Amino acid sequence: MSASYKILSQKDLDEISTERKAFARDVLIGLSEPRKWIPARYHYDDDGSGLFQKIMELPEYYPTNCEFEILKSKKSEIGDLMEAHQFNLVELGAGDGVKTSILLDHFMELGFEFQYVPIDISEGAMQGLIDSIQKKFPDIKATGIVAEYFDGLKWLGKIGQQKNLVLFLGSNLGNFSAAQAKVFIRTLWNTLNNNDLVLIGFDLKKDIDLMLKAYNDSQGVTSEFNLNLLERINNQLGGNFDISKFRHYATYDVFTGAMESYLVSLEAQTVFIEELSETFDFKPWEPIHTEYSYKYLVSDIEKLARDTGYTIEKHLFDSKKYFMDSIWRVQKTESL
Ligand SMILES: C[S@@+](CC[C@H](N)C(=O)[O-])C[C@H]1O[C@@H](n2cnc3c(N)ncnc32)[C@H](O)[C@@H]1O
Repeated sequence: MSASYKILSQKDLDEISTERKAFARDVLIGLSEPRKWIPARYHYDDDGSGLFQKIMELPEYYPTNCEFEILKSKKSEIGDLMEAHQFNLVELGAGDGVKTSILLDHFMELGFEFQYVPIDISEGAMQGLIDSIQKKFPDIKATGIVAEYFDGLKWLGKIGQQKNLVLFLGSNLGNFSAAQAKVFIRTLWNTLNNNDLVLIGFDLKKDIDLMLKAYNDSQGVTSEFNLNLLERINNQLGGNFDISKFRHYATYDVFTGAMESYLVSLEAQTVFIEELSETFDFKPWEPIHTEYSYKYLVSDIEKLARDTGYTIEKHLFDSKKYFMDSIWRVQKTESL
């Protein structure tokens, strides 16, 4: 078997704090602010990753089906861009990798000699992904990295100068504000080599009711996923959140173009978090902001690519034009 995964440790990287310490620090910061918030990445403990897989199967959650359709119908266009047949196929926030298996399959058929390097902060998701790669693709060399995106990329930088195709599927970039997304994409540019390719999933602006339904599904899975953040604080940081006293709320901000998710306190309450030795007061109906999911116009996407040092190779759409996978090439020769 050539598939395995690696958990980064202090030895691998110069400066990396453990995920649990970072979680405690970010919860302390977020719940101490007048507008309470918790970063969206903390949704993905093992339970959260499992719940997100269920979300992807929901009929209302259109992004998954759209991206499946794109990868299935446009895989040969993606393969045609890989002039070098030896490369790293790096995937940021790989999750269960089900959509990626369409490309893995296609690249194997084409006889490409690539190494698959999924990077994900969730060990549970990575374990599941590596197990399924071993079963479905025993001949693929896969090295999973359980780490934050850029810590994983730092490690990749240490293993050589091979050409890279970086996948960032499922509109993960939409969790960042425009300013954060720009910094993220430019930092990615810094870690990559001239002519490397990136394929990024973008959820496009569309009918508002469709988006509202996707984040307020009829089976309540998205609600469970969001509330699991409080369960995670209880389990990992010794919190005493009563989950039944909070509700999931998702809405669309027409000015910023973002779906926004909140956990709203249903009554006045005080929560204690042992790891922080701190109590936090909630007023009735007070929200905790837990996620942004920005929606894009094609023109926003093209500007983002231009402003951060990439040229656009291709825009790949689903038949309804709800979603786009955009492929960009790293340009290191032009000065920005
Ligand atoms: C919305 S899911 C998408 C999964 C997959 N890319 C897809 O399209 O189906 C986001 C994934 O990114 C991972 N993730 C979120 N924030 C991360 C971070 N800062 N660093 C590494 N992985 C992260 C989560 O654990 C989760 O598996």
